[in-house]
Amino acid sequence: MSRIRLEGLSRRFGSTVAVDDLHLDVADGEFVVLLGPSGCGKSTVLRMIAGLLPPTGGRVMLDDTDITHAPARERDLAMVFQSYALYPHLSVAKNIGFPLRARRLAKAEIRAKVEQVAAVLDLGGLLERKPKELSGGQRQRVALGRALVRDPGAFLMDEPLSNLDSKLRSTTRTEISALHQRLGATVVYVTHDQVEAMTMATRIVVLNHGKLEQVGTPEAVYDQPETVFVAGFLGSPAMNLVPATLHSVDGSLTVRAAEIDLPLGIAADLPDRPVIVGVRPEHLAIGGAGLRGVVRTVENLGGEEVAHCLVGEHTVAVRGPRPIGVRTGDAVGLRADPKHLHLFDPDSGRRLTWQAAPVSV
Ligand SMILES: Nc1ncnc2c1ncn2[C@@H]1O[C@H](COP(=O)(O)OP(=O)(O)OP(=O)(O)O)[C@@H](O)[C@H]1O
Ligand SMILES: [Mg+2]
Repeated sequence: MSRIRLEGLSRRFGSTVAVDDLHLDVADGEFVVLLGPSGCGKSTVLRMIAGLLPPTGGRVMLDDTDITHAPARERDLAMVFQSYALYPHLSVAKNIGFPLRARRLAKAEIRAKVEQVAAVLDLGGLLERKPKELSGGQRQRVALGRALVRDPGAFLMDEPLSNLDSKLRSTTRTEISALHQRLGATVVYVTHDQVEAMTMATRIVVLNHGKLEQVGTPEAVYDQPETVFVAGFLGSPAMNLVPATLHSVDGSLTVRAAEIDLPLGIAADLPDRPVIVGVRPEHLAIGGAGLRGVVRTVENLGGEEVAHCLVGEHTVAVRGPRPIGVRTGDAVGLRADPKHLHLFDPDSGRRLTWQAAPVSV
């Protein structure tokens, strides 16, 4: 299996900077997910790793070899795309075995490997069918099989589940995760779906406008977002982000938002400064004498409900078990646990941190 290292990888298209000085280490056996909005450069990164697109700057290292300019077919990598790109006139067995025939392996050996992969992917009964006789999920598994059969150093996957309906997406997601655990393979996986990223990744790489915003475990990226962008991108509904002022009241740090003081319980005397305060909808509760708001709408998510409340001029989402206990038009108070408040610099968008007192913000 393989390590992949990106060293200052960049790609311009004319005046568009699609990928900007990306540094990333993918360890052997990791499942790294590149996550970000449409157009942030995810596919461009993957295509440069695969050798389908030359970088305009930087290097791609596979283990200790510089493969930046190596032809795609010489890289020990298998790519799975969003479109399955199966050969319509070939059977499932022939589609899966295609990379091995291209390598001129003996027929019996090809057959044995195809059967082995088909068993792993539960395609055993479908080997003689043509792609058009398969469901979308089965086709996607054939495409996975064609990558697996090569036994590559690493897998590169670009939104492989996005053509599947939501139920199939969730079962195939579980299958890919199980496969990763069983094979211990290195995977670089592109998606804009945060649920895929949170559930499958050992580490998430969040990209925005071709730049790296944050790399970390799903928990770290969700619980300790380094930037306002990451805070607002992960989570559904998104983290509430409101402009506020950080100031000290009697030697204790306090955030003033929507004309309410929220004490942080941290001893420090600092000059006033503007901040953006963030709190996730699940870390707000209805009731009490905190922020005052009016309920605009209540959304039923099944097991939970989200109340969207107007607080000053901001809409703030609160999420809780159903029934959440309020209705449109209700005047409500909102409580936030200070340990779940996130503070960001409004200019740089970066997280403001402190260890214990004294504070360094
Ligand atoms: N061949 C190309 N020529 C010109 N511009 C391109 C080309 N390929 C990509 N781009 C631009 O580079 C940027 C990154 O594109 P990329 O396909 O990597 O985004 P992405 O993150 O994969 O988006 P999506 O989630 O929509 O697939 C975009 O601004 C895109 O328009
Ligand atoms: Mg893409």
